[in-house]
Amino acid sequence: MATNDMTDATTTTTTAGISGTHAAHAGLWHLGDDLKVARMGFGAMRLPAPDWDGPAGDPDRAVAVLRRAVELGVNHIDTAAFYFYKHLSANALIRTALHPYADDLVIATKVGPGRTPEGEWMSPASPTELKAAVHRNLRELGRDHLDLVYLRRLPSVESLSEQFGALAALREQGLIRHLGLSNVRPDHLAEAEQIAPVVAVQNQFNLVTRPGAAMVGICADKGIAFVPYFPLGGLGIAETRRLQGIADRHGATPVQVMLAGLLSLSPTVLLIPGTSSPAHLEENVAAGTLRLHAEDLAELDSISRR
Ligand SMILES: NC(=O)c1ccc[n+]([C@@H]2O[C@H](COP(=O)([O-])OP(=O)(O)OC[C@H]3O[C@@H](n4cnc5c(N)ncnc54)[C@H](OP(=O)(O)O)[C@@H]3O)[C@@H](O)[C@H]2O)c1
Repeated sequence: MATNDMTDATTTTTTAGISGTHAAHAGLWHLGDDLKVARMGFGAMRLPAPDWDGPAGDPDRAVAVLRRAVELGVNHIDTAAFYFYKHLSANALIRTALHPYADDLVIATKVGPGRTPEGEWMSPASPTELKAAVHRNLRELGRDHLDLVYLRRLPSVESLSEQFGALAALREQGLIRHLGLSNVRPDHLAEAEQIAPVVAVQNQFNLVTRPGAAMVGICADKGIAFVPYFPLGGLGIAETRRLQGIADRHGATPVQVMLAGLLSLSPTVLLIPGTSSPAHLEENVAAGTLRLHAEDLAELDSISRR
């Protein structure tokens, strides 16, 4: 099991409840040995709009949320050039809010499928299109290199070699510092690792349905960050009630229990919960302070509908 020589906030069971709000309370992780991030990050997908078909979000509120996230110690922000609604894009909001960027800010982006200006999804990107997508992210974010670029696999793509090889070449050229994979199985990870180092896997995962759970352990064993997206998904009324029971014991909220439970799975889990609400942001970051006890973790395990 990887420890990455950073604070392991996942095994302490002595501190109850929520106190203080700083992203580093969730622990720290080195992406690829050089980029030190707080394990509580932020996902920017829903800043332009809560859904692909709108309505448009409030750009001033989005900028305020991003700036507050950084004030709270968040230094890992997840985005993509395909996160946009009409003329409002996540990359542009990040640039408006945070440029010039702090030295320790890690912006992760994804390439793979593109979207037309009207928002329609396109087929898997060719190497040339991937290169164009990397340059688009560089331009939109106002950077001369990208910290972490995930290849986002579409279900129709079985072999990643051609696409991942194209990104590995851009890494060799210094345009990309580290590479990750999104929406992949263990065999895809193994295939990509033959081509270039992989520092992060971003797959859909939550504590209730736990899709593809094996990947959490595989990443932990390899010292690769596992970044669950839709981390708050899967909750029904019955699960929410049981989470409320755990939350009440800690003076926390069910969402905080969900996030703390994910952090407890392995020291390589990095969270990027997304919100356009300042109050939800504070709540999510504070979840990194919550230390769940063994009985809480057992209860969380029992609500899983795997
Ligand atoms: N690789 C991929 O294919 C992929 C796919 C999807 C997402 N992602 C990444 O993963 C990130 C997270 O995913 P996500 O934003 O879709 O899902 P999420 O973090 O599970 O949930 C976001 C939703 O939960 C709400 N929320 C957030 N904090 C809350 C709180 N404390 N209490 C109540 N509601 C709360 C948000 O609404 P409010 O705005 O009202 O708070 C929003 O509707 C995205 O931003 C994106 O960067 C990657």
